[in-house]
Amino acid sequence: MERISNPTILDIIKSSTELLAKKNISNPRLNVELMLCEVMDCDRVKLYLDFEKPLTKSELELYRQWFKRRLNYEPLQYITGNAYFFGYRFRVNENVLIPRQETEILVEKILEDIKNSGKSYVSILDIGTGSGCIAIALGKKIDGLNIDYNIVGIDVSKGALEVAESNLEKLGGDKNKISFVEKDVFTIENFSKDIDYIVSNPPYIPFNEFESLDEEVNKFEPSISLTDFKDGLSFYKKIIELYTNPVITGKLFFEIAYNQKSALENLLNEFKEIQGEFFKDYSDNHRVLEVTK
Ligand SMILES: C[S@@+](CC[C@H](N)C(=O)[O-])C[C@H]1O[C@@H](n2cnc3c(N)ncnc32)[C@H](O)[C@@H]1O
Repeated sequence: MERISNPTILDIIKSSTELLAKKNISNPRLNVELMLCEVMDCDRVKLYLDFEKPLTKSELELYRQWFKRRLNYEPLQYITGNAYFFGYRFRVNENVLIPRQETEILVEKILEDIKNSGKSYVSILDIGTGSGCIAIALGKKIDGLNIDYNIVGIDVSKGALEVAESNLEKLGGDKNKISFVEKDVFTIENFSKDIDYIVSNPPYIPFNEFESLDEEVNKFEPSISLTDFKDGLSFYKKIIELYTNPVITGKLFFEIAYNQKSALENLLNEFKEIQGEFFKDYSDNHRVLEVTK
């Protein structure tokens, strides 16, 4: 960044955007504006109205630290510590996957199903809860439906569960109805009682594709949230096996990778008592798999 002694917002936007663009970081200007908004605790409209205003010394110091990290390809959300999901501002750090927009469709599908179910109570299990984004967004939305519920999010990562707990607190989720538990899904032998909705956005990237992911992803996001270190299907297989237990009468909802539809169709064919339906995301990729008995 060109060193101007008292740079204005506009000076920073111009010089930083150019540098991020040179590093092939996508949406460089948006990145800069969002960092400035967080540093100055304002929205983008205010930023535009105050173009000629210089940053205070402390704002400038923080901005420079953050900008250096962004130049090194660290994702914006880890730098600011915030990510938006389903309209809620979640806390994130290096222990959790940054919630993706595609995952919102999974939450939408489940909410639609709950609304149509006519049930007055639903139990939900979120496998691989990470930041808790699915569990908490579901809870907050079900709160408005006059339906009672219990949601348990499990994860193998202690660090992720700490983030999920802090999001539950921060977003005012109902602690009597939403809880998080440390658990490795592969150690679960059987469910002992019925669950209405099992949901999972599991680590689904095959290990042989992991190295070719963008640096922003594979260098910064936890590898255990991205890949199963195998063929990308092991979580689906394990969770479907658990689902086939006769005690479960509910539904199973997965997020899947854009290219996994046929592999999952083959997997479903191994289990006679279940069927699957695929739904597309807004980019026209098959993204959600609903499994029923
Ligand atoms: C793709 S991330 C999904 C996070 C969050 N649900 C979301 O949609 O943004 C997968 C999550 O699975 C967790 N995970 C990995 N291995 C696991 C295991 N064996 N048992 C339970 N959770 C696991 C990871 O820690 C990570 O939080």
